[in-house]
Amino acid sequence: MIASQLAQAESIHDCPIIPVGVDSGAGLVKLILGSGSSQIRVRTNSKIVEIREELHDNLASPEGGHFFYHSGDRQDLVDREFLTGTLANWKAPTTHIKLSDDPALKVEYSLHTLLGAIATLPYRKEWNLHLILSIHNAKIFRDLLNQKVSGSHHVSFGGKNNSTSQVNLTVGRVLPEGAGSYSYCLSVNPPLIDRTGTAIALDFGTSTIICTIFAPGGSIVHRQVLEVGGCIDLLSAIATDTELIQFLGSGKAGSIETIRQGIEATTFQYGTRDFNFKSIYARYLKTWLKDRIRLAFKEVQEWRDSAQSFVAWGGGVEMPGVSKLLQAQGITAVPDGCWANAIGLQRMSSGILSRGGK
Ligand SMILES: Nc1ncnc2c1ncn2[C@@H]1O[C@H](COP(=O)(O)OP(=O)(O)OP(=O)(O)O)[C@@H](O)[C@H]1O
Ligand SMILES: [Mg+2]
Repeated sequence: MIASQLAQAESIHDCPIIPVGVDSGAGLVKLILGSGSSQIRVRTNSKIVEIREELHDNLASPEGGHFFYHSGDRQDLVDREFLTGTLANWKAPTTHIKLSDDPALKVEYSLHTLLGAIATLPYRKEWNLHLILSIHNAKIFRDLLNQKVSGSHHVSFGGKNNSTSQVNLTVGRVLPEGAGSYSYCLSVNPPLIDRTGTAIALDFGTSTIICTIFAPGGSIVHRQVLEVGGCIDLLSAIATDTELIQFLGSGKAGSIETIRQGIEATTFQYGTRDFNFKSIYARYLKTWLKDRIRLAFKEVQEWRDSAQSFVAWGGGVEMPGVSKLLQAQGITAVPDGCWANAIGLQRMSSGILSRGGK
């Protein structure tokens, strides 16, 4: 530990510290490094698989990484090798670990997803990253998350025998999910939240819909995960629609991942197949959203009349048609909803670094 701290202290002199925001979602891990024109954004699926035998070939994608852990502060990872994101999906389509399976997995695999995301970037011998992380329950998981991620990690990206990289990670803060999005809403022009008043926010995530109430100034006074699921429920409804199953012809449901990509591309095309699911999407979207808005209104009822701002963020608000339906209910969809939390966390990281780490 002492040797690695020394190595870290020495190396920081010639390798700049990059301020980073990390939003580890149940469905998508979002990482933002640096700011301005040199800012880098990485988004990978929240999937991991451990490799126990030689790969036939090197795998590479901007949406997933491959790393071999040689040595470092995570002794439990030494000599182990992992694929994350799309690469995990390619290698083990049915048996990979999904962070959406259990909220505790976000912590358990926090370093894996982070290293997997860094693996997608151009090679560097050394990385010094100052991280602001978010987690659904910061009070319970703060220390454990810090322990899993912090320190020096000596790894090879893209294959065991590739040149090594020294990844030095400092955790500046661990904040509740949504703290970064709140700060993002204040930073845009004009601001989307009035800081002097109460604000209501709905997070449309992959697995969850979360209602958060912010007091004037930004402290969280109430937070509740709705009983219903997030975007995954809409994707599953499309995947199990009889019209799609009939088209696919095998009797099995469609692929959630293929549907997600078709929605994000706004083409609604089912992979390379000659099937467009736009009308199926339109049919399910309205009820999916109506149910969630109704339950959210019930949850935030006490604050609704006095709240100055009512916003929605999370990738779900970027799905076609959602922001218009939210607007009709008096809710402002945050542009860049999927990235908002990571953008806010990255800005905080820059701020803390420029104040000398305080
Ligand atoms: N630009 C986009 N257009 C359309 N849909 C999008 C876009 N970006 C993200 N999404 C969708 O939004 C959904 C939620 O994404 P988000 O990144 O908020 O989830 P998450 O943070 O992984 O989940 P959770 O908050 O439940 O942990 C995903 O299904 C994703 O496909
Ligand atoms: Mg999220």
